[in-house]
Amino acid sequence: MKTKGDKMNKRWAMALSAALCTQFAQLALAAEAGPDERAAKAVAAMTMDEKIQTVFGYFSTDFKGTPKPKDGVPNSAGFVQGIARLGIPHQQLTDAGVGVATQRSDKPRERTSLPAGILTAATWNPQLGFAGGAMIGSEARLSGENVMLAGGVNLTRDARNGRNFEYGGEDPLLAGTMVGEQIRGIQSNHIIATVKHYAFNDQETGRNILDVKIADAAGRMSDLLAFQIAIEKGDPGSVMCSYNRVNGDYACENDYLLNQVLKRDWGYKGYVMSDWGATHSTIPAALRGLDQQSGWPFDLSPYFNGALKEAVIDGHVPEKRLDDMARRVLRSMYANGLMEHPVKIEGEKIDLAANGKVSQADAEEGIVLLKNQDRLLPLANTYKTIAIIGGHADVGVLSGGGSAQVYPVGGSPVANEGPDGFPGPTVYLPSSPLKALAARMHAKFVYIDGKDAAAAAKLAAASDLAIVFATQWTAESVDQKNLALPNNQDVTIGAVAAANPHTVVVLETGSPVTMPWLKNVGAVVEAWFPGSNGGEAIARVLTGEVDASGRLPATFPMSEAQLPRPAIDGTGLGEHQRFSVDYNIEGAAVGYKWFEKKGLKPLFAFGHGLSYTTFTYADLKAAPKDGSLAVSFKVTNSGARDGKAVPQVYVSKVGGGWEAPKRLGGWDKLALKAGESRVAQVAVDSRTLAVFDAKARKWKIAGGDYIVTLAQASDAPVSTVKVHVAAREFAPGGH
Ligand code: BGC
Repeated sequence: MKTKGDKMNKRWAMALSAALCTQFAQLALAAEAGPDERAAKAVAAMTMDEKIQTVFGYFSTDFKGTPKPKDGVPNSAGFVQGIARLGIPHQQLTDAGVGVATQRSDKPRERTSLPAGILTAATWNPQLGFAGGAMIGSEARLSGENVMLAGGVNLTRDARNGRNFEYGGEDPLLAGTMVGEQIRGIQSNHIIATVKHYAFNDQETGRNILDVKIADAAGRMSDLLAFQIAIEKGDPGSVMCSYNRVNGDYACENDYLLNQVLKRDWGYKGYVMSDWGATHSTIPAALRGLDQQSGWPFDLSPYFNGALKEAVIDGHVPEKRLDDMARRVLRSMYANGLMEHPVKIEGEKIDLAANGKVSQADAEEGIVLLKNQDRLLPLANTYKTIAIIGGHADVGVLSGGGSAQVYPVGGSPVANEGPDGFPGPTVYLPSSPLKALAARMHAKFVYIDGKDAAAAAKLAAASDLAIVFATQWTAESVDQKNLALPNNQDVTIGAVAAANPHTVVVLETGSPVTMPWLKNVGAVVEAWFPGSNGGEAIARVLTGEVDASGRLPATFPMSEAQLPRPAIDGTGLGEHQRFSVDYNIEGAAVGYKWFEKKGLKPLFAFGHGLSYTTFTYADLKAAPKDGSLAVSFKVTNSGARDGKAVPQVYVSKVGGGWEAPKRLGGWDKLALKAGESRVAQVAVDSRTLAVFDAKARKWKIAGGDYIVTLAQASDAPVSTVKVHVAAREFAPGGH
């Protein structure tokens, strides 16, 4: 029987242990200690239950009859309970890459939206990647969130992937660099960023069941390289493992991906969280490298809750592995200052106007001028009547759908065009291209929705100029069936072009599309999903207030027949009908590399994009430096307008032996006044000169001659130089 004395003793013992813990906590919190030491000390002070609590996340939205956790930020992606006695705050997780998203709700948070990730990649300007990341990270912080589930860096292996808009295009160096900068920007706010979806989650069809087949070397030289570079540049606190399987095992219980490549070879010190519903086991997942289960109740079981505790007690999962899991989570929190810089919900402090300008600056450099016959653009201010056709361009610009959806102030100006459930709704951002154009031009503007091709053609015939806004809504969880614009828009564009040769097509798409009407229109502009101030950005590019300086980060194919997989694998299969996708078909030859290897001529090549001015190039030089190559050349703006050049440096090996004839080795983006010249210096990434030797587990640069090509696009070489490179090997995590 318990006596009063027992109770007193217990109370005394509790007080003593609390005091000790506080001391411990203070020690662990001592800011002079590095994140490793602080995390190790905190873990040493944690009970088993506290460790389990740290590696188990909840969905922070009412779902499947389960209410969101009490302290979780409402309608957010995730929540992990903190440990007050150790000074460890809650982890509040929000999507995603273009800003602070809201899970579907009647009263979403209204936040600034960056342009789509693929647009940011199209800027080829790492500074804009950083600035955008810093901006959305600041909104996350003021929304009470301290873990942002961005940046996405899956390669555009399939032009029809519904999530291409969230990522950085098809080239590992470009994507890794741009997304890495975004991550760095996000984390400059003392919050954690998450690189995702690791790895090879390059199509949405069957994403929960498909098994990607890819050889080690091919993977390391393509998708994995994009992750590796993004991690090197951005040092994200977390990595999100993906839904799919890779060579047989789910990505979130994949020893090769998590333990061998990420943690051993790349020396990654942060933690791996699962995608929402991507955990499939307790013991295999814990042993093979997953550190935190996310989004309960998305998974079938709370694997990392009671079951993990039991597995540790029974010795199936060593306690030191649980310690490692918790330590990794805490390490990222310490490393990013989450303890010293607590977040709170202060949405009213967000400077939406200033942040909109950050988004706009990004959009203005990522809109790509694909075709410009007879200098139809920039628009002369002499037209009397201009027809604006389609795309709801009278009221806004389109955004991409799914968990990354950011809701604009005041809501979408267009009623939901579906679907009713996830990944809907279709959201337009209230920045009207028509109004932005009308504010800059003398012409009389008339809008028509374009659904009736004959009516659109009639209006175009009666106008001096027609601008057709064509949209392709892409979203998480669904791929595009094919590369065509949906809803008969090709018919409308064809009819308008036939009625008026002065037709400009502005595309708002999440990925490449085909253009059967291309030869009949005057100009084509790819504006992607251009973000909160997209209408302004489009108008400024169309009128030439800014140069057109975006360049394609992904190849635009002529047709599906040119793709490694003309049809998307898994189409029409049931929920549990497992299938595999063979990425060994193209291996590391993703995008332009595939096209060049196969001798295919695309509609528009990787790196393509016109400017309103002209550039000339001279003095191309390449010399060995730091085990790689230093390239320099002179760029001159030879036209009459200020503009921005994007000189691209491609490398090839004399004698071949690579997955494709050439690889992007580096680039620069230079703002040049009319007549101005500058010398650009480009350091070639050594991995783009190397081949990964899977057997030796090393990158190997073969000694010999290499060709360095300076180009305006992957299919537009300017000059070449030959250079000898000495043989060199380096570790899988090196460069
Ligand atoms: C997506 C992730 C997202 C998560 C949380 C998943 O469905 O694949 O990108 O971060 O949901 O919303």
